[in-house]
Amino acid sequence: MIWKILFGVTAILAQILQALAAPTLDSQLTSQLPGKYVFAHFMVGIVKDYQLSNWKEDMAAAQSIGINAFALNCASIDSYTPTQLALAYEAAEQVNFKVFISFDFAYWTNGDTAKITEYMKQYASHPAQMQYKGAAVVSTFVGDSFNWDPVRQGTPHPIYALPNLQDPADATTGPAKSADDYGESHYIGPYSAHHSDDGSSQWAANMPHDGWRNLFKPYIAAYKSGAKTPTVEVDEVVYWYRPTPKGVVCTGDILSAPMGANMLSDSVFVATMLTSPATLTVQSGDNAPVNIDVPAGIVTSNVSMGIGGQSFKVTRNGQTILSGQGGLAVKDNCVNYNFNVYVGSIGG
Ligand SMILES: *[C@@H]1O[C@H](CO)[C@@H](O)[C@H](O)[C@H]1NC(C)=O
Repeated sequence: MIWKILFGVTAILAQILQALAAPTLDSQLTSQLPGKYVFAHFMVGIVKDYQLSNWKEDMAAAQSIGINAFALNCASIDSYTPTQLALAYEAAEQVNFKVFISFDFAYWTNGDTAKITEYMKQYASHPAQMQYKGAAVVSTFVGDSFNWDPVRQGTPHPIYALPNLQDPADATTGPAKSADDYGESHYIGPYSAHHSDDGSSQWAANMPHDGWRNLFKPYIAAYKSGAKTPTVEVDEVVYWYRPTPKGVVCTGDILSAPMGANMLSDSVFVATMLTSPATLTVQSGDNAPVNIDVPAGIVTSNVSMGIGGQSFKVTRNGQTILSGQGGLAVKDNCVNYNFNVYVGSIGG
């Protein structure tokens, strides 16, 4: 599924993505809720066919890296929203996770008070509802001018309305910013064929981003503990790269390369998560191997992208401690443009 981390960890997301998208966030880790909660944004609008088990799998993946709740982004136009919301709340209750609704005001309007109140009456006291100080958390996407007072009056449970739940990473990634996630490639949930095909399968299928979760986990832990830097317990590398260099002309696409594509760097990125310093060796396609001395902790290095297979190795004191092949070869030809990245990991 396509979900991504919000709030505090968004700064981390941006930090990791700075390699991919030129402008970056330089913000402190902040949370809009006092306390250390980490939420992931989940687009309910593209999971028409989700079953209870799909929800539970996604929630387990989120829980395993320290995410507390899903902000369930709901459009008003989807007939299956009530069904999927019910499944999400039920799944969350079963796996001891939390959820809350984020009304997407690209679709909802300030006149929808009655409908929004109905949803809050239904879910505000649900066992899986994310509560803050005894009040049900609810948010909007670009719905800052919505008046919650009548909803509060109509709901027999306190409500904590979070301000506009916009993802700061979106605001920094330029023209792709929109009310949907399809044009973005920041998903970190397991990719599932169960979401309706809005076209994103073109670039999201077979392009896993799961490795990024391994990378977020220590940052989320550090955020929650108040540590300045993440702690690495096991040596691991997480790598990512696009399937073709930016200049390759794809032969079968009715569209041309997306705006901003030429700003990208033809690089292979490797985040080393190391317990002590080591040497990273990357051989990208037909390029000569590149050795990089990397310190302990989490550091992102890059090498120029070469056509062909990608191989990664970490050595320490003359011993190879990690090695593996990238899960996707870089090609110098393509049918359709795909500027998404393949994310993989070795070790861990
Ligand atoms: C690649 O690494 C070099 C050296 O650390 C850095 O200066 C450069 O900004 C990086 N390139 C990208 C695209 O991240």
